[in-house]
Amino acid sequence: MYTEKVMDHFTHPRNMGEIEGANGVGMVGNAKCGDIMQMFLKVNDDGIIEDVGFKTFGCGAAVATSSMATELIKGKSIDEALKLTNSAVVEALEGLPPQKLHCSVLAEQAVKAAIDNYHDRLEGKTDCECNCVNCGHEEEEHTETEE
Ligand code: FES
Repeated sequence: MYTEKVMDHFTHPRNMGEIEGANGVGMVGNAKCGDIMQMFLKVNDDGIIEDVGFKTFGCGAAVATSSMATELIKGKSIDEALKLTNSAVVEALEGLPPQKLHCSVLAEQAVKAAIDNYHDRLEGKTDCECNCVNCGHEEEEHTETEE
């Protein structure tokens, strides 16, 4: 059912865990399956993703797709990372069963949410470390910079 690549990334996830000095953090969730994915980016002054980490509370395919997504964006520019699609993640994993495609969508959304958060922080729009996309937090639970 799963390709060797998927099994490899599920059993030996790359870049797993929170990273030191992250300046872009995004969290997304899928309301149907309940899976949650969090992505941490450390972007340098040149806009290059120097380091990346993820935490996924979900199925094996969610772990494998987030692991692969981190591999695909590490060392890339923010602009390149923004172009990451779920199909590119699936392709890199040499396929996913149709009923698991939504897991790869979550990985794409997690990367985008982390990049959004990076931009928001740059622009001083937020100092909230949670990107709030489907995270279930109420607006007032977040720390927003006052401007
Ligand atoms: Fe929902 Fe995998 S089952 S992300």
